This record gives sequence, structure tokens and C-alpha cells, in this order.
Amino acid sequence: MSELSQDQLLNLVNSKQIAPGSDRVRALTQRIVSDLFHTIDEMDVTPDEFWAAVDWLGRLGSSGQLGLITAGLGFDRLLDIRSDEADARAGRAGGTPRAIEGPLFVAGAPLSQAEVRLDEGEPQGEVFVMEGRVLDLDGRPLPHALIDVWHANVQGGYSHFFPGMKPYELRRRIEADDQGRYRFRSYVPPGYSIPPNSPTSELFDALGRHGHRPAHIHFLVVAPGMRTLTTQVNLPGDTYLDDDFAFATRDGLIVELERGVAPAGYESLGVNAPFVRTRFDFVLQPAVSEGESLPLTRMERVRA
Ligand code: DHB
Ligand code: FE
Repeated sequence: MSELSQDQLLNLVNSKQIAPGSDRVRALTQRIVSDLFHTIDEMDVTPDEFWAAVDWLGRLGSSGQLGLITAGLGFDRLLDIRSDEADARAGRAGGTPRAIEGPLFVAGAPLSQAEVRLDEGEPQGEVFVMEGRVLDLDGRPLPHALIDVWHANVQGGYSHFFPGMKPYELRRRIEADDQGRYRFRSYVPPGYSIPPNSPTSELFDALGRHGHRPAHIHFLVVAPGMRTLTTQVNLPGDTYLDDDFAFATRDGLIVELERGVAPAGYESLGVNAPFVRTRFDFVLQPAVSEGESLPLTRMERVRA
């Protein structure tokens, strides 16, 4: 092949085609490759820097930590901001705010009716009960709504990702009762930190950034005809509440904790002493398409 300038090479890369392919994939690839060519040229990226980055991406991929990087570089929250903006343009308002799913969801958690213990009878720290209802925008209960709940253990680890934890530890599904009520017992989770000595920590060390998230609990809430809600609640008082590595803290999702002695009615959860309680209702919007009410997480949606 003849000699090529950078621009000629870019044009060639972006115009090669022997079949229609996908217009969308071609347009996005062209844009990203162009941006990267320009970055390499303007920032004078050396071959060693380029291949070190490729090596890092390879190690990141095989570590399964890509989803940690997307969160830490703001992409997960960006997608939520864009969804909120699209909702505002479409006049869709109200309900519990969405919050990032995070990379640590696992499908197929054990299912219970109305209530469950997430701590599996191995209490740690303060006894914690979270309870409430699943409602529509008019405050009507959504009977038998399904709630997936997952949170980190006392060391900040999630089962299936953190060594030594049992399958589905601190992960459950709860089917709300006929009045849309749910409740669960667990312990107040601590914050979370990205794994040390990992491709993720390598980048954040080089950026001079921390990899901490404030204490939070994840939810995926599904009801027929309603828009599936992916959200998290934050626990108050955490050092990182306003300095979340994943930028996910939102107004309306920081719960209040009430400390007291459990009144009657919590025996089935084994609560008979001081406990911490939080009440939180999940309010779902109506779905405007069938796809919106599917019980699917972010990766299940794209793989379905
Ligand atoms: C990450 C971890 C989480 O627990 C979470 O909710 C979101 C992101 C992360 O490691 O990137
Ligand atoms: Fe999390």
C-alpha cells in the first residue's frame, strides 16, 4: 500500500466496507476511532503508552471488572442523567428516583413471600429492618410486586464476587403481599471499596482517586404493567455520602434510620430487642411499552 498520512489512514479505516453491516455500529465506531486517533496525536501518545493501555484493557476484561470502571468513570450515572432528561422531555415524572444498578447484581436469588432475613440468621452489628410498600403514582399498592435486594457484607464484599461468601449471601427476592407490603431483616451494611491490587485500583491509583462507595442497598422492583425500577438507598452519616466513587448518591434515596425497641409484630424476623428501622415505599411509574416492565437487569436486557 502507498504511503499514508494520518488523515488518509483514518478515512480508509472509517470507509472500508464490503457489506451493509450496521449503520449504527459503523457510525459509532467511526466516531470513537476518530476521537482516539486525534487524542493519540494531540497528546503525543507513545507506542509504550498505547500498548500499556491495551494490556490494561485486556487484564481489565479478564478480571471481570469492566463494570467497576464504567461506574467509577461516571458512565453509569451519565446514563441515568440522560434517562432522567428523556423522562422530563416526555413529561414522565414522579415515583422513586432511579439509581445505578452497579456491576454486582446476580439473578436468581432465593424468593420469599412478603418478608425475609437477608442475614440468614447470622446477625452482625445492629439489627436492621427495612419495610414499606410498593405503590403506583396514585399511592395504590401494587400487590405481589417483586423486589430483588442485595447488599455488601461487613467487609464490603458482595457474594459471587468476594471470596469466602456463600452463594446468594445477602441477596434475596421478596414477593410483596396482597397489599404491596415487603420487609426484610439484615444488618446495616458498611461502605464498599473497589478491590485492591486490581486493574480497577491501578487506574484509580494513577488518577489519584479513591475507590469508595458510601453504605448502600440495591433494589430491582418489578410489577406487571409498571416500569421496572432499578435503584439504591443510601444510609445516612457515611463519610462518602457526597463523595461516592460511582457518583450515585441522589436526593430522595437517603433513608432515615429510627433506633428503638421493636414493637410486637417482628417476631417472625426474630427481632425482640433494640433495632434500627427504616421505612421506604417504592413508587413505580406506569410502563409505556412492554419492554419497560420486563424483569431484566442491564446485562440481561442486552443479552435477551
Ligand atoms: C461498584 C460497586 C458497587 O457496589 C456499586 O453499587 C456500584 C459500582 C463498582 O465497584 O464499580
Ligand atoms: Fe453496590
